[in-house]
Amino acid sequence: MPQIVEVFRDKDELAEHVSREIIDKLAAAVKARGRASFVLAGGSTPRPIYERIASAEDHALDWSKVVVAWGDERCVPPDDPASNFKLAHETLLTNCRPAAVVRLRGELGPVAAADKYEEELASALGSPRPEFDVVLLGLGSDGHTASLFPGEPVVTGRWAAPAHGPPPHPERVTLTVEALNAARHVLFVVIGANKAAAVKQILEDDAGLPAALIRPAGSTTWYLDAAAAGHLTRPSDRLGRPGGE
Ligand code: 6PG
Repeated sequence: MPQIVEVFRDKDELAEHVSREIIDKLAAAVKARGRASFVLAGGSTPRPIYERIASAEDHALDWSKVVVAWGDERCVPPDDPASNFKLAHETLLTNCRPAAVVRLRGELGPVAAADKYEEELASALGSPRPEFDVVLLGLGSDGHTASLFPGEPVVTGRWAAPAHGPPPHPERVTLTVEALNAARHVLFVVIGANKAAAVKQILEDDAGLPAALIRPAGSTTWYLDAAAAGHLTRPSDRLGRPGGE
């Protein structure tokens, strides 16, 4: 499936559009299959997206039919400022009450947390290899996504695995490339000029960065602000309209 690239004037316009896209895709999954699974990203980029989803007066999506999980987690307690769970807990989950929240229990340590996460995902979604409906991913300036970092081995035959990242939180757990590539919709959200080189390498040069390995059979859409798209030479599939024109 080809990747779609959408460029927006700024992060607010991007967050407004992506939050709407996520709600619509989840609602479509619930309509088609009676429930939806939503895999959250960590880092700082998703915060305004989660806040908009939480504040949306949207009755098209029945959150009681949605299972929420994470693409990765640092091996810290859930109340640690670095916790990806904490980010979602204080934004998205303030207003949205999913059917299940499958927290990645990073505090157990990488090996035990990966085992536990696979077990709890299988239990919540009824399959040891769940096909997630909507997966939100960020991108590091080094081309990592989730906790799939350059130079690290690509784990196969698993849905979640221990991972190793840079300090201050090197111990992590991540969904694997296989798990992410089984998804129906992958949405990358990338903001800022510091990501522009990695975005170009991934979308135009295929430089073998971890995020370039995420090519699901379903749809992949890259939502970029103008700064993150600054090195791209090919036109985007869609330019966000200023003011929603
Ligand atoms: C993590 C994230 C990671 C993140 C990128 C971008 O746990 O660190 O899952 O993959 O998405 O590092 O982070 P920012 O959004 O903060 O730039």
